[in-house]
Amino acid sequence: MAKHFNISVIPGDGTGPEVVAEGVKILKRTADKCGFKLDFTYHDIGGEYYKTTGEILPDRVLESLAESDAIYLGAIGHPDVKPGILEKGIILKLRFHFDQYINLRPVKLYEGVITPIKGKGPDDIDFVVVRENTEGLYAGAGGFLKQGTQDEVAIQESINTRKGVERCIRYAFEYCRKRNRARKLTLCGKTNVLTYAFDLWERTFHDVAKEYDDIETDYAHVDAICMWMVKNPEWFDVIVTDNMFGDIITDLGAMVQGGMGIAAGANINPGGISMFEPIGGSAPKYTGKQMINPIAAISAAQLMLETLGEYEAASMIEAGVVKVLRDDIKDVGAGKMGYTTSEVGDLIKAYIEEGHHV
Ligand code: IPM
Ligand code: MN
Repeated sequence: MAKHFNISVIPGDGTGPEVVAEGVKILKRTADKCGFKLDFTYHDIGGEYYKTTGEILPDRVLESLAESDAIYLGAIGHPDVKPGILEKGIILKLRFHFDQYINLRPVKLYEGVITPIKGKGPDDIDFVVVRENTEGLYAGAGGFLKQGTQDEVAIQESINTRKGVERCIRYAFEYCRKRNRARKLTLCGKTNVLTYAFDLWERTFHDVAKEYDDIETDYAHVDAICMWMVKNPEWFDVIVTDNMFGDIITDLGAMVQGGMGIAAGANINPGGISMFEPIGGSAPKYTGKQMINPIAAISAAQLMLETLGEYEAASMIEAGVVKVLRDDIKDVGAGKMGYTTSEVGDLIKAYIEEGHHV
């Protein structure tokens, strides 16, 4: 019997629905081609829904998501909603609720894409950031004292548990082994200043490393990583880091690989329900204009199929992305592609049809 997956879709705000439509188009095509079945259940949560109903993430939506095999997310963020409400109430809530403790963000420069890093090409820029996704400064620990007075104190604590750090580091070692390229894992931290949190990270890193003789280990402070990502991106294979540093360096990574329009991420619970999303936000100024690049969302769909174990289908998507970037798209930026959002989706769909391989 054909395999069957239930996919929850949250198109969300701004350009989210436009890019998700292209991702779903591609997912359907690859499923037909590779002989598995996908069912899609849509949820209209996001900024608009919050504005009209006052609800952020209703329990019935959470319950429905919990019944699915994976979540496909477009974008969350609305210009009329105060920053933090939707981000915390939807994106972070889902990451925590489903214990998606890994945020996997590949940084790969494809042929035909321009990187702002002078003198570097696709051979130099191909690494993956494994970001811890449930702890650190994102855990929400802290509070105000004497709020609104001259004596106000605001505390935001970074929570790092041995269990949380260890499962993330172990995932990164496993991933590095499976990826089988330079077999080098770099811990990105700040051991010279964050002497509690990154002491735990460093000790755990060395402990776990004993189980992985075949992986070279390396350490760099986060500020130095920012420098090397620009100067010598070819030094990196897999980078593992905490939630906040991972957030920051992956926006830099997205630029290094050519832009937000092509950067995809996976929020993974290896034993549970994972969520896949383009890294770029809701891009309100491009909404509904068919100008936004759907490739980040399409690559997120590829990460979904990889995580679901549909490797052939995933590699067909990547082959389509490679070809469209190399042969068709002029510039990956919104409005500069030389094609509309859905034309890019159609091109990739046609390449999948023709059966291209990476
Ligand atoms: C990201 C985003 C989110 C984060 C925001 C929207 C909460 O920037 O996925 O990187 O900080 O993790
Ligand atoms: Mn971010």
